[in-house]
Amino acid sequence: MLYPLDPIYVCERCFGPLEVVYDYEALAAQPLRSVFASGPRSIWRYEPLLPVDRIAEIDLQPGWSPLVHSQRLGRALGLRQLYIKNDSVNPTWSFKDRVVGVAIAAARRFGFEVVACASTGNLAHAVAAHAARAGLRACVFIPKGLERGKVVATAAYGPTIVEVEGNYDEVNRLCAEIAEEHRWAFVNVNLRPYYSEGGKTLGFEVAEQLGWRAPDHVVVPVASGSLLVKIHKGLQELQRTGVIPDLRTRVHGAQAAGCAPVAAAFAEGREEIHPVKPNTIARSLAIGAPADGRYVLRLARDTGGRVLAVTDEEIVEGIRLLAETEGIFTETAGGVTIGVLRALAGQDAFAPDDVVVAYVTGIGLKTLEAVETRLTPPITIRPALREFERAVLELVG
Ligand SMILES: Cc1ncc(COP(=O)(O)O)c(C=O)c1O
Repeated sequence: MLYPLDPIYVCERCFGPLEVVYDYEALAAQPLRSVFASGPRSIWRYEPLLPVDRIAEIDLQPGWSPLVHSQRLGRALGLRQLYIKNDSVNPTWSFKDRVVGVAIAAARRFGFEVVACASTGNLAHAVAAHAARAGLRACVFIPKGLERGKVVATAAYGPTIVEVEGNYDEVNRLCAEIAEEHRWAFVNVNLRPYYSEGGKTLGFEVAEQLGWRAPDHVVVPVASGSLLVKIHKGLQELQRTGVIPDLRTRVHGAQAAGCAPVAAAFAEGREEIHPVKPNTIARSLAIGAPADGRYVLRLARDTGGRVLAVTDEEIVEGIRLLAETEGIFTETAGGVTIGVLRALAGQDAFAPDDVVVAYVTGIGLKTLEAVETRLTPPITIRPALREFERAVLELVG
């Protein structure tokens, strides 16, 4: 059933989530590659495949982050064509700026005055920043006990921050109830169809940066599952409109073992997702009842991908491995991606010349507590050459 572009998110008939559709035939008739190339270096270069138009005066210019050919990490994993999509390079240092950029433009279009969200941390940060730029009031809901870096960084933009005594799934349920009663723009509830479309730009951009082709594999962190599903939708749209010739990308999902409802269903060959109570250092991925979990499962199976989980120990190892080999310091979600990338390599999921793209979706500075006790602390010396020679020289080698 088709609906107009309104702030609605469920079908009245089947209660399923609503998806934005485009006139793909008309789009295929356009020279899309050059349309994109003439656009700004941000998510808005893909405006023809986004559900709302850019509003220049509120745009924080998310997107167009580096795609890094990662040769040192690749060598460690037996991959010649490994790329890290470093999406910590964004206005609030996570991929959430992409989805929020689209949602805020939608909120403005629909005339909302308050924007809100249920968040595991990064989304709250992005909503607060984009709302500030748009001159909208923001009220963000987070579970109690998130990392200090995320809460303090969010507070800087002056939103109302509501810490709920419960986990993310309880926060999300509360927000759905509020959205029923009050005319607020909850970016990931009543504006979810718009918000989630922003995730497609991580598929578009990678294909463009690879010279308009789809990678052989993508490895994507999974919380609600929206990002993974939308990366694939983005690639599919490029193929459908003739921008890329074919699509054989295997889609792999990455979860933390302490919150792995989708990986468990994948391992056990189940169709349904059994919700879990999260217990992991990867708080940004701590969603026990993922809204798009079933779609993630189906996509991984249909494309020949896998959904794996890694322990907290492996997450920290992943963060260190990426930092030490590629100079990219990611948050715990990125540690999950790298941990699963490594596990997939260990399972021979890749051929040595496959083009593999691992999505690093947030910065390490916001989750310092996850790693700080596990890294080598600084050496303290007095300001004297002899001290340096005694205490430091041998260590550096
Ligand atoms: C850094 C980071 N990466 C990945 C995700 C997963 O996003 P999704 O809920 O779309 O699966 C999140 C979600 O909060 C996140 O903060």
